[in-house]
Amino acid sequence: MSQRWSPRSWRDKVVTQQPIYQDPEALDDVLARLRSLPTLVTSWEVESLKAQLAEVARGDRFVLQGGDCSESFSDCNSEVITAKLKILLQMSLILVYGCKKRVIRVGRFAGQYAKPRSLDTESRGEETLPSYRGDLINRSAFTAADRNPDPELLIEGYERAAMTLNFIRALTAGGFADLHHPDYWDLNFVSHSAQAEEYHAMVATITDSIRFLETVTGSELSDIGRADVFASHEGLLLPYEEAQTRQVPRRSGWYDLTTHFPWIGNRTRDIDGAHVEFFRGIANPIGVKIGGQITPDELVRLAEVLNPDREPGRLTLIHRFGADEIGSGLPPLIEAIKKSEQVVVWMCDPMHGNTETTPDGLKTRHFDNILRELDEAFTLHCQAGTWLGGVHFEMTGENVTECLGGARGLSPDDLKQTYKSQVDPRLNYEQALEMALLIARRMDG
Ligand code: PEP
Ligand code: CO
Repeated sequence: MSQRWSPRSWRDKVVTQQPIYQDPEALDDVLARLRSLPTLVTSWEVESLKAQLAEVARGDRFVLQGGDCSESFSDCNSEVITAKLKILLQMSLILVYGCKKRVIRVGRFAGQYAKPRSLDTESRGEETLPSYRGDLINRSAFTAADRNPDPELLIEGYERAAMTLNFIRALTAGGFADLHHPDYWDLNFVSHSAQAEEYHAMVATITDSIRFLETVTGSELSDIGRADVFASHEGLLLPYEEAQTRQVPRRSGWYDLTTHFPWIGNRTRDIDGAHVEFFRGIANPIGVKIGGQITPDELVRLAEVLNPDREPGRLTLIHRFGADEIGSGLPPLIEAIKKSEQVVVWMCDPMHGNTETTPDGLKTRHFDNILRELDEAFTLHCQAGTWLGGVHFEMTGENVTECLGGARGLSPDDLKQTYKSQVDPRLNYEQALEMALLIARRMDG
């Protein structure tokens, strides 16, 4: 691996999962505009997250990362963004209750617009067109014009990410995330479910405890009034990431300021590839998705390339094996990382190894398999003496029907009711809340 790094040194490597733009000059023009626009996040927010993740690496905090598989531009509106924030806040509160540690909230939002695909093209009948790769790249309708990668979408994605972040920042700064008012976070449509009752009982206990402490100490508890929420996305479309990668005054290094926490997908983590080259040089905390194909030796080499200084908080390994594979796949990786003396955050993504297709051809996941993988992840890390520092979900605050099971026992027939995802199936609001309650019970026990 060459030691010289620049935001564009990835261009000398083999790059996968990128669209082919018909008009390279139009792309260059867009990238020049993106370079001239302000960044979406700041280096001190990024460093603050890295410091918090270092505490996760030490076993002192927990991370909840979650959101859509693929955000869509049409969902950039107040209602949907509020619902995303609400479910993240509610789940994090449940996890705090369960693990008795501070929980970092990281949304898969404000830029989760580019998707890796297994095939470059999609065929329907006689017609073959480029695959849909996310709203940052092309449009999902099956016409040649819609599927043609359009560089202007990079600007549109940047703008939507900025609007999303702006709204989330305004909500959290304005008291929406205040623990004195968890009632603001209620999503009405499940107010009668068993999960909602259990959640409300938990919230009542928490608010009573806060009131009690405030009465006894005669002062307001600090930090209760606001919750930090960080943004993340898969750093897939490298020209977009490169255009917002900057040096900042009074700090060394380069920051990818499209988001706080970019991650490398399971399909683009080739140690000699362009994505690893780009990620090794940025100063952000980063994630890398790892599945059953990676060998212990390869993982140790990858971790050394991505975190040569063994900086705590820098590298999060997000494992996603599937409920049947984690038992054989994870322990050798944990042992190899322990032996290498790397410092990492371990996180479990119980979604991406558990995808199946219904007889009707809908992509889905079963609630029980998601829970089984998570449960096993807790057991395996406990046996190895490592801290499972976080969980990573595809979920939504909306009342969709994309995953099977959960308290309402959604069946394959139910999925057709409100199946909205363009890519992977998400836990709906009620399923996400139930999942958090079950993890909290497990961590409390
Ligand atoms: C994703 O997170 O949506 C994804 C594509 O995951 P993975 O890279 O783990 O397959
Ligand atoms: Co996905």
